[in-house]
Amino acid sequence: MSSNKILVTGGCGYIGSHTTLLLFEAGFDVVVVDNLANSSKESLRRVEQLSGKTVELYQLDVRDNDALTAVFAKHEFKAVIHFAGLKAVGESTEIPLDYYDQNISGTINLLKVMQQFNCYQIVFSSSATVYGDPASVPITEDFPTSATNPYGRTKLFVEEILRDLSRADDQWHVIMLRYFNPIGAHQSGLIGEQPQGIPNNLMPFISQVAAGKRDKLSIFGGDYSTPDGTGIRDYIHVMDLSDAHVKAIHKIDGLVGTTTLNIGTGNGYSVLEMVHTFEEVTGVFVAHEIVERRAGDIAECWAEPKLASSVLGWKAKLNLNDMMTDTWRWQKDNPDGF
Ligand code: NAD
Ligand code: UD1
Repeated sequence: MSSNKILVTGGCGYIGSHTTLLLFEAGFDVVVVDNLANSSKESLRRVEQLSGKTVELYQLDVRDNDALTAVFAKHEFKAVIHFAGLKAVGESTEIPLDYYDQNISGTINLLKVMQQFNCYQIVFSSSATVYGDPASVPITEDFPTSATNPYGRTKLFVEEILRDLSRADDQWHVIMLRYFNPIGAHQSGLIGEQPQGIPNNLMPFISQVAAGKRDKLSIFGGDYSTPDGTGIRDYIHVMDLSDAHVKAIHKIDGLVGTTTLNIGTGNGYSVLEMVHTFEEVTGVFVAHEIVERRAGDIAECWAEPKLASSVLGWKAKLNLNDMMTDTWRWQKDNPDGF
């Protein structure tokens, strides 16, 4: 019988912990590797609490060939879901070598070890950032790609590496999921996103202002060519995003070569709509002011998610109200994170 075990790299992190929970619920066994650079073991303890299952965690860096080899020597994996990596755009412009090393060398090391152990199935966390500044919306997977910062370039390079690999050897089954903007938390309020320091992203910033941890939200730009002048994005509930990974694992045996899919809802919301919806849903006021645009930001970015629907049978089910309610529950129940 073939293995039912999935290796989740970066499984202690935001998307990895939610996906680990859903994999358990779908009946898979899960092994996690994570160096805990941007997370804590507590997230997995809570996944265990929610699932009633035990997670085997190896605290290691995906660049560490010996450590990773030892994990593959001990377990037979059906597939790998590869979340591990660094993800802060601003930081990537300051320490680009770290980003190239962790995100690209880390992935190359993982792929080599997979090959050595005849594990040829991988789901990779790509990003809508690979579309650069898209010429129009909604964005389909065949749009041209580009990058404006080292983080985005690591995603583009890894996508190319995975394409080259599967061209060279048809044993590979590679699914690259291009996430739009993940937000929200598990409905229990037990797991969620834990940004370190001052959040870069909109949703954690809004919830920290609402919680009184920050004075006010700075809205980056009120003069974009959008209906209310603020930037529009495709926010997707982390549970829907995690579900896309489980569906990808269910389909991966039949998907030879590379498959590239947008994972978004197909709806775009402006920053002001986000603030107002949060206020309506939670009843909590979010102080805000419009300031200068943030360098590198684009006006509009939202997905055409039809391909994911036809290939994986996946569709986002949760709406913006759910995303707001769940973010706020997580924030209130865990004011200082895990
Ligand atoms: P996260 O930081 O919460 O999770 C990443 C996990 O990987 C962390 O637990 C971290 O400790 C671990 N890690 C980092 N470097 C590692 C290394 N060298 N070896 C082992 N473990 C390592 O981030 P997330 O939001 O869960 O994102 C997961 C993936 O999805 C990342 O690859 C990210 O680039 C991608 N992604 C995220 C978003 C987003 O908005 N959150 C959007 C698009 C793509
Ligand atoms: C950012 C990254 C992108 C990454 C994604 C997910 C940049 C330029 N892009 O995307 O590469 O894949 O996060 O991690 O960093 N906003 C405010 N005030 C804030 C924060 C955000 O007005 O304090 C606005 C932004 O201008 C944007 C929207 O909110 O219009 C969403 O921002 P954010 O959550 O940072 O995501 P992206 O910029 O889409």
